[in-house]
Amino acid sequence: MTGQSRPQRVNGVWHARWVFILAATGSAVGLGNIWKFPYIAGENGGGAFVLVYLVCIALIGIPIMMAEVMLGRRGRMSPINAMLHLSKEAGASRLWSSIGWSGMLAGVLILSFYSVIAGWSLHYLSLSINGDLHQISGSDSGALFGQLLSDVGTLMGWHTLFLMITVAIVAAGVIKGLGRAVSVMMPLLFLLLLVLLGFSIQQGDFAAGWQFLFTFDSTNLEWKTSVLPALGHAFFTLSLGMGAMMVYGAYMPEQKAPLGQMVLTVAVLDTIVALVAGLVIFPIVFATPAIEPSSGPGLLFVSLPVAFGNMVAGQWVAVLFFLLVSIAALSSAISLIEPTVAWMVENKGYSRTTIVAILGLIIWFVGLGTVLSFNEWAEVKLFGMTFFDSLDFLTANIMLPLGGLFIALFAGWRMQRSTLVEEVGDVDNGIYKWWLRVLRWVSPLLVLVVFVMSLWDKFFA
Ligand code: TRP
Repeated sequence: MTGQSRPQRVNGVWHARWVFILAATGSAVGLGNIWKFPYIAGENGGGAFVLVYLVCIALIGIPIMMAEVMLGRRGRMSPINAMLHLSKEAGASRLWSSIGWSGMLAGVLILSFYSVIAGWSLHYLSLSINGDLHQISGSDSGALFGQLLSDVGTLMGWHTLFLMITVAIVAAGVIKGLGRAVSVMMPLLFLLLLVLLGFSIQQGDFAAGWQFLFTFDSTNLEWKTSVLPALGHAFFTLSLGMGAMMVYGAYMPEQKAPLGQMVLTVAVLDTIVALVAGLVIFPIVFATPAIEPSSGPGLLFVSLPVAFGNMVAGQWVAVLFFLLVSIAALSSAISLIEPTVAWMVENKGYSRTTIVAILGLIIWFVGLGTVLSFNEWAEVKLFGMTFFDSLDFLTANIMLPLGGLFIALFAGWRMQRSTLVEEVGDVDNGIYKWWLRVLRWVSPLLVLVVFVMSLWDKFFA
């Protein structure tokens, strides 16, 4: 240990290892699993896409997550300052701190649209409280969603509310705000998903849903367009590549907790939630003629109301479900601004409340672009993408994989071996030897190959 030379933490420390696991799971499990994964799997043809996504989680996501949490725990500060400290410690260039800078930007951009989508969930929460989903049919459900998308005021209202709650939690601080918020919500969400799974098995076309998600038919996969989204989603769903996991790692107590085990727990939970969400949604989709698997971002919001509207006590199940999705979104949203807030507290000494309020305002404003991209600006396109699609593409498919690539390169090639041994254990033998090999060679090369091939094709071919 390098004792005194280690930076002081001003933003807090989790009081136990399991709070880290909970917070990291809270960050990972969110709209990415429940809303995004099913709809992009649907858009990209199902099984083969799911397989590529799972391979990306295993060979890229998990090794890089280990590295990211490790960098945070070692650096003990916001990503920018942690990387400054670590690059000095390793005798490397200060430029490595740009991982932190690009992460801050990615966090702001992601939260700007994340909050709009979370707003949809709040809207559906209020619809279900009012009983508006009662016995709704597939086509009515589609119309209801279309109505929401065209209503700028409503979209803006929920976007505003969601951001305000996020800001309030982050302002309350790491221990009181973040730690506490996640410990209740995560287990509850999981339980409810299982209840819904029961419904899908009984009432939906479960066999068709299962087959769609788990039959690997490579002819259904557009290699040129689908592999990059699968890679990007692996980063997005694990909250990787922008410093969120790094900053949560920085709040880890000093005790030498086993990193590998903790990271694996988070990644496995995250993957299970996504797959279960898919197994809830697709059987309903296939049992409802009016809904297509490829219906895009509305898939969750169009398909599930049909189930709720037609199940026993469906209104209450719907209330609970949308409440939990909103909460899952919240526990992810807080991790998108925490790196930036932490940095400003460390460097500028402003209060968390001031910083987070200003940041919230900026994010709110950028979010208006996403709101408008579903109506007024629906035809305004850049490279064939709306404002929302471009933001999603730029962050998930470019910024996060790039951030992850540099995290892998720094941890794999620049950090001193002795530091690695101090942080993770024996990297010359056993499982960590394999981790280091994969982190040095496999993950970066895979990211690069997918990157070069897909981007070339998208923008130049
Ligand atoms: N992982 C979250 C989800 O699946 C989203 C998220 C939270 C995120 N923090 C992040 C994505 C940091 C990328 C980076 O919904």
